[in-house]
Amino acid sequence: MSSARLVPVLPCPEPEAIAFAPSSGCGHSLEDPQIARISPTTHEHLRIAARHLRASRLVAFPTETVYGLGANTLDPVATAKVYALKGRPSDNPLIVHVSSLRMLRSLIPESETISDLYLALIDAFWPGPLTLLFPARNPPRPPPAPQTIGIRLPSHPLARALITEANLPISAPSANSSGRPSPTEAAHVFADLGRKGAEPVIDAEGKVVDEVGMLGCILDAGPCAVGVESTVVDGTQWSAEAARPRVLKVLRPGGVGVEEIENVVAALDEKLGFTGAQKTSVWVYGRDPPAASSRTTASPTMVHSPIPQRQSCVSSSTPAEIHNPTTPGMKYKHYSPSIPVYLLYPTDRFPTNPLQDQTATAPAKLEQVWRHVADQLVAARLDGAIAEGDASSKSGCSRKRLRFGVMAFDNSSLRHALKFTTHAVSPAQRIQVQDVENDTEIETEIKTLGCTEEDAARALFRDMLAFEGTFGVATDEAAASRLRQASSSAGVDAILIEACLEKGVGLAVMERVNKAVGGGGTGKGLGVRDVQEAQKRFWVDVSP
Ligand code: TXA
Ligand code: MG
Repeated sequence: MSSARLVPVLPCPEPEAIAFAPSSGCGHSLEDPQIARISPTTHEHLRIAARHLRASRLVAFPTETVYGLGANTLDPVATAKVYALKGRPSDNPLIVHVSSLRMLRSLIPESETISDLYLALIDAFWPGPLTLLFPARNPPRPPPAPQTIGIRLPSHPLARALITEANLPISAPSANSSGRPSPTEAAHVFADLGRKGAEPVIDAEGKVVDEVGMLGCILDAGPCAVGVESTVVDGTQWSAEAARPRVLKVLRPGGVGVEEIENVVAALDEKLGFTGAQKTSVWVYGRDPPAASSRTTASPTMVHSPIPQRQSCVSSSTPAEIHNPTTPGMKYKHYSPSIPVYLLYPTDRFPTNPLQDQTATAPAKLEQVWRHVADQLVAARLDGAIAEGDASSKSGCSRKRLRFGVMAFDNSSLRHALKFTTHAVSPAQRIQVQDVENDTEIETEIKTLGCTEEDAARALFRDMLAFEGTFGVATDEAAASRLRQASSSAGVDAILIEACLEKGVGLAVMERVNKAVGGGGTGKGLGVRDVQEAQKRFWVDVSP
């Protein structure tokens, strides 16, 4: 059995009280900012974290997007631990977090100058949730592995202060086991990695090389403000001078909306006097590239849902990644809770059927949807795909009783259709649906996605994890044990999420939701096999 030791959680309250001062001199304000004000406790905790980083250990820390699992970028022993602790595929590169442009320049070739395009994006979005690809100074692996390095300067004051204090670039993926929803609170990290991260590190000969474990500490500064990961863009081929077409590829949608990026790009084109074919095209993951001469504005399009994409306007010899720019990480199953996830498109927000490949073109009434989901869960159960008494199937998924967790917007018609009134915004409201045909009682628990796409982004991973029956704050073994007991009664049998428009951060929300729906679960015999093949997206008639 593993040791009962747990990774320490170090509180760093009121991160907004941390202040930064631009370095003296007349350069860019992000050239080399220093910590100007920080509370003594937080500073002490950052020193501890920095010592762990220098000792080749990992540190979990908050960013404005999600919590990151950080390692010293310059230390291959440390970065290898990131892959080991997460169970991350080795071909998926890590984003490097910097605290200054000086640090950024130390990571890219000395001959490389930061392009006008990147300077405009940095001015608009840094510090913040935008990752830029640069040519790498020392590519870690030969081609076809990426010869680029993804870098961002996060806006979370604690993240910036940690990098500044350690004076090291920090490579950090989201601080979760590979494939799981990303953590937006320290407690999520603790529940996932708090035990595993404290197991002594053992070398090939079985000798203990580090008593402390791979993960030195978790810095806790409360929930993340954005809630989904950064937007990853590739402008490495863009040049102000060269005659070749100017392209910025959005590889992964995230915290910075595509529309915001397009506005910055349009302003830059205008400033530089680019017209017609000289203008920069913004290509977006899951969307065809627009013709070079006519940039289209971002219209809400489905990223993963099985909608026939617009006819391509590029020649068939265009490489696949040009049609569908993406990161290595996007091909992996991601964001999946351990229970099936369903997506609901209410007819008032999606007046035409967004699910064009589905045979049924008529929208389904909510009762039909509930019955359909119940049938799938019960069928999967009878097939043995969902084991009776499965730890994650809290109600036992019996014919008699099912529990659905619904994530819906505050004022939505879907919520009204659930007989839920707008003014009663308690975080969880239970309703009972009697499914006569199935002889099943369905208990529905509702959590709010708030009112906007930004609210939904903050709620998404947190509430997926909560519906799974995971997590409160557990900073010691006793609390962890209490939580394990509590979670055995808290989970639901299926999560149903109301779709949002793919605008702003909504594009990232829908990309994450569609991944969770498609994946169906991360294993553990949870009905994944059968339910993932079944219809899991519904166009819902919410007319009264
Ligand atoms: O907001 C975020 O980006 C969070 C926080 C912790 O900063 N980090 C994060 O890391 O989401 P991760 O590892 O979960 O996702 C990184 C994504 C992956 O899809 C990866 O393939 C892509 O960025 N990526 C990283 N370096 C890349 C490169 N050189 N070329 C192409 N894609 C890259
Ligand atoms: Mg991740």
